[in-house]
Amino acid sequence: MMTKIINILKDADGLVSGEELSRWLGITRSAVWKHVEDLRAAGYGIEALPRLGYRLVDVPDLVSAAEVQRGLGTVKFGSRVVHFPVVDSTMNEAFSLALEGAPEGTVVVAETQTKGRGRLGRAWSSPKGKGLYFSVILRPPCAPSDAARLTLLAAVAVSEGIENNVGVRALIKWPNDLLVNDRKLCGILTELNAEVDRVNFVIVGIGLNVNTVPSQLLPEATSLRIVQGKTVSRVSLLQEILRVFESRYQAMLKDGYGDALAEWRMRSALDGRTVRFAERGREIVGTAVGLHDDGGLLVRLADGSTVKRMAGDIRI
Ligand code: BTN
Repeated sequence: MMTKIINILKDADGLVSGEELSRWLGITRSAVWKHVEDLRAAGYGIEALPRLGYRLVDVPDLVSAAEVQRGLGTVKFGSRVVHFPVVDSTMNEAFSLALEGAPEGTVVVAETQTKGRGRLGRAWSSPKGKGLYFSVILRPPCAPSDAARLTLLAAVAVSEGIENNVGVRALIKWPNDLLVNDRKLCGILTELNAEVDRVNFVIVGIGLNVNTVPSQLLPEATSLRIVQGKTVSRVSLLQEILRVFESRYQAMLKDGYGDALAEWRMRSALDGRTVRFAERGREIVGTAVGLHDDGGLLVRLADGSTVKRMAGDIRI
């Protein structure tokens, strides 16, 4: 209902009477008033002029459901958006919602997280209002072993979404970190709820440094603001990522992973570069030579043999 009120006020670009709102929305005028109060509490500036009506005078810089859904144009991704000013981790909220049966494409997004988490047990710092911190619920009809490729697909979609929206080409460091100038711009975490042979649901969590400034970042990280030298609209960027993600995901359900993996290879930050990773306590050094169709990273070793890495971390 709040989304509808905001949309009406934005479209009107002027005054809308309480009576009109109550008629169009099918609710009482006091219910309209209550929703207006909730919107004000969420940061919207709404003027109420006696006998004349309501006027929108200020829109907060929030990735609220109302803002994200306006003009989104997807079918599933973002058809439900759950927005938190503060949350421990969008992964936890998305997981609970998925267990309760939330539909595929549900997005949980927060302005900040108190316990944002990354891969391999690391923390994900989430400065308030600066980045995009969101999780998408997916219900792919696949086996758990396929989840690795879903994560690659997500990296492709986010990289393409950023390029379409901001014009910055972020490369992918296997499996799914996005880098610009070899600095980390975005991390993706995929968590599963599955049985041995069947996935119940997948949560894809995306953390993207958008307007983050250097003092809020690790030295090896970057943000779109740093790269572009100007502030980027988080709402419009999130919308484009959701559009591309939905279209890549639907294409994968229909035709498999071929296209997404081909695009991943074009965006790889690693090809031909020296990489290091740990295996059974030993450091292995080799040259990244490509991506296997199952999502594994192919690394050529000094003795000429090629190994495939399916999980874990690598360093350039
Ligand atoms: C990584 O690079 O290790 C992955 C980072 C993933 C961070 C995102 S932010 C939104 C979602 N909620 C979390 O707690 N983590 C993911």
